[in-house]
Amino acid sequence: MTTTTTTARAFAATTTRRCFSSLSSRRPEHHRRRRFQKTIVVSKSSSESTEETAATTTPTTTAADQRPLSSSSDGDDDDYDCVVGRLLPNETAWTNPANGEEYRLQTQTHELTRDTTVIRSLDWDRDRFDIEFGLEKGTTYNSYVIKGKEKTVLIDTSHEKFEQLYMETLASVVEDAETIDYIVCSHTEPDHSGLIKRVLERAPDATVVGTKVCLAFLDNLVQKEFKKLVVKGGDVLELGEGRQLKFIPAPNLHWPDTMFSYDTESELAFTCDAFGAHYCTKNVFDEDLPKLMPHFSFYYECLMKPNARSVLTALRKCEADGVKLSTVCTGHGPILQRNSEELIGDYKKWSEKALEKAKASVAVFYTADYGFSDRLSQSVARGVVKTDCEVAMVDLSTCDAQQIVEDVGRASGIVLLAPPNANEDIQDNIGVLIGAVKPGKQKILVCESYGGDDEPVDPLMRKFAEIGLQESQSPLKCQSTPTEGTYQLYEEAGTDLGQLLTQKEKLKEMKLSMSADVARALGRVSGGLYIVTALQGTAKSAMVASWVAQASFEPLGFTIAVAKDRAIESLMQVGDSFVLNCLSEDGFEAPMKHFLKRFPPGADRFEGVDWKPASCGSPILADAVSYLECKVVSRMDANDHWVIYSEAIDGGVFNKDAKTASHFRKVATYY
Ligand code: FEO
Repeated sequence: MTTTTTTARAFAATTTRRCFSSLSSRRPEHHRRRRFQKTIVVSKSSSESTEETAATTTPTTTAADQRPLSSSSDGDDDDYDCVVGRLLPNETAWTNPANGEEYRLQTQTHELTRDTTVIRSLDWDRDRFDIEFGLEKGTTYNSYVIKGKEKTVLIDTSHEKFEQLYMETLASVVEDAETIDYIVCSHTEPDHSGLIKRVLERAPDATVVGTKVCLAFLDNLVQKEFKKLVVKGGDVLELGEGRQLKFIPAPNLHWPDTMFSYDTESELAFTCDAFGAHYCTKNVFDEDLPKLMPHFSFYYECLMKPNARSVLTALRKCEADGVKLSTVCTGHGPILQRNSEELIGDYKKWSEKALEKAKASVAVFYTADYGFSDRLSQSVARGVVKTDCEVAMVDLSTCDAQQIVEDVGRASGIVLLAPPNANEDIQDNIGVLIGAVKPGKQKILVCESYGGDDEPVDPLMRKFAEIGLQESQSPLKCQSTPTEGTYQLYEEAGTDLGQLLTQKEKLKEMKLSMSADVARALGRVSGGLYIVTALQGTAKSAMVASWVAQASFEPLGFTIAVAKDRAIESLMQVGDSFVLNCLSEDGFEAPMKHFLKRFPPGADRFEGVDWKPASCGSPILADAVSYLECKVVSRMDANDHWVIYSEAIDGGVFNKDAKTASHFRKVATYY
């Protein structure tokens, strides 16, 4: 068994590693499982690695040769013996066109079994995944090679920014690329499929394997003929001598095209995005659970919680198909092996809790291989989930009538992303949907998909209005390629719909759960009056804040409590910058009145407001008595709020004589 890492040169500190302690949970000692066979010592500055000693012979798995191997070596962490790998001299950097910064790129290989190798692309400094997902510790894109007795399979590739490194590394694992028989595409987002086109240039006879939706997407990405094999649940690939690769579709985890693969001989499960983490370390496995945990849970919160029902369905399917999730080869972050039982259990527990806690259900109908329907529908879903609703994602191109009837029957809200005009099967499903809705009892949101042939949304909405469904707002329009602002609009519209469905019950619950005396006493805790502003790309937002308090001297830091269903919350992830504008005692009314308005989704909160950008771009208001430019350091989950701890980076006072505004209440049941 060997391990290999291809490393980038040490760059000048282009980024600051950020603390992300808020969600961490220290696990008991007995959970720190150490199952390793031998130690590989890695020289951080050279490509050499040497086997030092057979430290322990505790087997990771069974005696079968193909069962997962495990080894141990010096890792990033002092407390754990971690599998890391050998460093190779190749190195590269990627320049972010948005800010000109250089991001370190590195690849790494490790033999998981005698014939299965992981190629990890380490994107050390990536700081964001879509608008809502700030990254603290970069990410990895994991690709796998299985050399069966008769067939060689590549499972997923890497992001195209890794082209040179990945192709060199792949060549070191599979010397003759033409021997690759199959390329399994678990999911077509470009972080996994971005280099399939390049691999096909070296292996033109390879057959690409994926779900029907996946291969339809891939046609658009590759844009030339290639051999394809559409697979569905229960299908297998024969790899030789009885060994099989089994396929388990896992739609909505987190895209409709997603599927898992399972090697019946090695018992490795390949799950792409599911069970992953945006957490870039040299550690191949999940040895250091306390450090991994905040990233694992945050990833679940952002990507999987909106699909909690689909998570439970996928887990049930795995159980029914005899798929063991003991070594889980993820698409991002460490492979789960040491703590897989606990981490898979967390997915189950969190998904069950999300469904139990749900105060309403929303069915989101989209068309998987059409325009931006999938991405935009995910944004709406994310917005809905912020309000304690559960979401059922339904792909109109693959669902059946029974599923539509079931999901609509459970829902109090319906979201419909405009389907393509010219598809008869989908139009039939729209007919089923119209027949299944409950007039007078459900709210609906209709949105464009920007697919080029969208069924016009206004007439579509009228069809539902005529049968008694009330729109949560006018149909959302998307008339150019979606930007950060578009995704923000869709997310906010989802949040508005969710709030509409849950508001009454939440108020009732709050009143019942709160002791009147305690609420009155807590209401005597005073606050200030501030406007928080944040900007990212074309998305910008603002909110009135009063739960703000200094929290540290060194560095100068403070906390702000932000309700989980606030739009600005997405722009205040760890590492994000924002501005805290302090209002004056004599001049708080006008800005407070303006920013307390209920803005429609996507509305420009700054229209008619005098402001100038801070160095981070976020608005400094002309009405502010002083401002602080801040960076988010950590977030603590406080049930219905995030408590966001930030460091003050810069600031200024415009009016030295003005007193800052105070905020007094008599009861703690409102802000
Ligand atoms: Fe990791 Fe959905 O791509």
